[in-house]
Amino acid sequence: METANKMDVVDRVLVSQEEIQQAVSRLGKQITQDYQGKDLFVIGVLKGGFVFMADLVRAINLPLQLDFIAVSSYGSSTKTSGVVRMIKDIDKPLDGKHLLIVEDIIDSGVTLKYLKEMFATRGPLSIKVCTIFDKPSRRKVDLKGDYVGVEIPDEYVIGYGLDYAGSYRNLPDLCVLRRDVYEKD
Ligand code: IMP
Ligand code: MG
Repeated sequence: METANKMDVVDRVLVSQEEIQQAVSRLGKQITQDYQGKDLFVIGVLKGGFVFMADLVRAINLPLQLDFIAVSSYGSSTKTSGVVRMIKDIDKPLDGKHLLIVEDIIDSGVTLKYLKEMFATRGPLSIKVCTIFDKPSRRKVDLKGDYVGVEIPDEYVIGYGLDYAGSYRNLPDLCVLRRDVYEKD
């Protein structure tokens, strides 16, 4: 792993940067329409959501406020622990605001279900979820993205913010990780 250059671990490009940008632009337009005149507060989920967050907020043509939270549900492997840990919370009040949670990917749905329930206790006017990628076939809990970029099959993916063991977030395309890279773990 340490010696692999970033392309060594890529099996193939699943969603190209051009396709990602098209999806971002579509989502930005939709959100711009839906939140006219509303007090929009966008919450990015670190670390994976940082690339999408930066692109998405620039595709939304509305005044908005934003902040980041950090959670961890994965260790360094490719399987979820099923336990969500809050590492960085938002300290500002969220009452009276329309919350839009921005994630890199919905997999089991455990992370977003936890976050929605947690934010619901803080008196927001609404809570919606925007994700750039979705693996619907992997869902373990009842959770649907309100704004979904691209649905993908059940493959472990890296790039556009998503990592494997902390690396490869900077790949501009969404790529499938070579199976032999993680199956030896
Ligand atoms: P969930 O709670 O199972 O829906 O998992 C959500 C989190 O798991 C995402 O925010 C990602 O950080 C991570 N994750 C899920 N699938 C992948 C993947 O294919 N590659 C990298 N990270 C992933
Ligand atoms: Mg992650």
